Amino acid sequence: MKKVLVTGGAGYIGSHACLVLLENNVEVVVLDNLCNSSLESIKRVEKITGKNISFYNADLMKPEDIEEVLQKEKNIETVIHFAALKAVGESVAEPLKYYENNISGTINLLNAMEQHKIQNIVFSSSATVYGNAKTVPVDETAPTGPTNPYGQTKLMMEQILTDCSKAKNLNVTLLRYFNPAGAHNSGLIGEDPEYPNNLLPFVQQVAAGIRPKVMVFGDDYETPDGSGVRDYIHVMDLAEAHYAAILKMSEVKIYNVGTGVGYSVLEMIEAFKRISKQDVPYEVGPRREGDVGILTAEAKLIKEELGWSAKRDLDEMIQDSWRWQSQNPKGFRA
Ligand code: UD1
Repeated sequence: MKKVLVTGGAGYIGSHACLVLLENNVEVVVLDNLCNSSLESIKRVEKITGKNISFYNADLMKPEDIEEVLQKEKNIETVIHFAALKAVGESVAEPLKYYENNISGTINLLNAMEQHKIQNIVFSSSATVYGNAKTVPVDETAPTGPTNPYGQTKLMMEQILTDCSKAKNLNVTLLRYFNPAGAHNSGLIGEDPEYPNNLLPFVQQVAAGIRPKVMVFGDDYETPDGSGVRDYIHVMDLAEAHYAAILKMSEVKIYNVGTGVGYSVLEMIEAFKRISKQDVPYEVGPRREGDVGILTAEAKLIKEELGWSAKRDLDEMIQDSWRWQSQNPKGFRA
């Protein structure tokens, strides 16, 4: 049986990835400091799958924590590295916190992997590395140029991993996620932000009456209805991409993980209204600094090389988000 260490496995994408791994009979070890996640997500993944996760409340900033996990857990074959800070606005205000945590955490992890001879790593990167893409859909060869410190840390971590791959024969798969959304269809796990910065969690909370209205950040982009267009990917499809990745590790590979299809902010709000049968009041405001008009993925490469493509459509994504939101109005805190 394969054994995989998942850093950040209690978080939104990490918990869905753990679920997919367990369903495929992978043995799962989670290392998470719970700074932006809840142990309850791990318990629920265990409940859904009927399988156990070896959980460690441990911090990548403390090499001794990582050492302790790897001492106890022998025969880890692959690491999936999610653990990182991810709030764009905060990264602009507190750049050092982001560089320190994301970069040092990754370096500590790589040092420990080298010590313990773990040769495979799948990294949670982001389409944010493309910054202002000149043409869409973007493929993996497009120029990079993140527009904020969070995005810079993702690109730097990609570079560190690439250098280590060459120097240390490490197998590295860099997955550049587009816009993850949705939840597992059990309604038991989902995204649980304290304050939502991303569109769908915000719309969800407006539909649930927790917040009064959605602010649409600009309707003067060069898009069909003027609002921003993104490539939303169901978190379960994204989780499955990680499973596909661990089955076929080799020297450095970079894959976009998206659907290739874009939806605008206004289309997302309308679809949410239709599916949730709730009112979703909104107001058009100014553009948000650092935003681009349109970003969608060219996702051919991952299909050709890993045989993965997104299976779930927009309606399923919104139905699943709404189920999670309605059944857990206070997220994991209830
Ligand atoms: C954002 C991050 C990106 C990160 C990704 C993770 C920024 C600038 N980018 O991407 O670095 O990797 O999340 O998921 O924050 N919108 C509104 N009103 C809202 C929220 C969003 O109109 O209240 C619009 C945005 O302008 C954008 C679209 O909705 O057009 C999606 O926004 P969001 O969910 O924040 O994702 P990104 O900005 O694409």
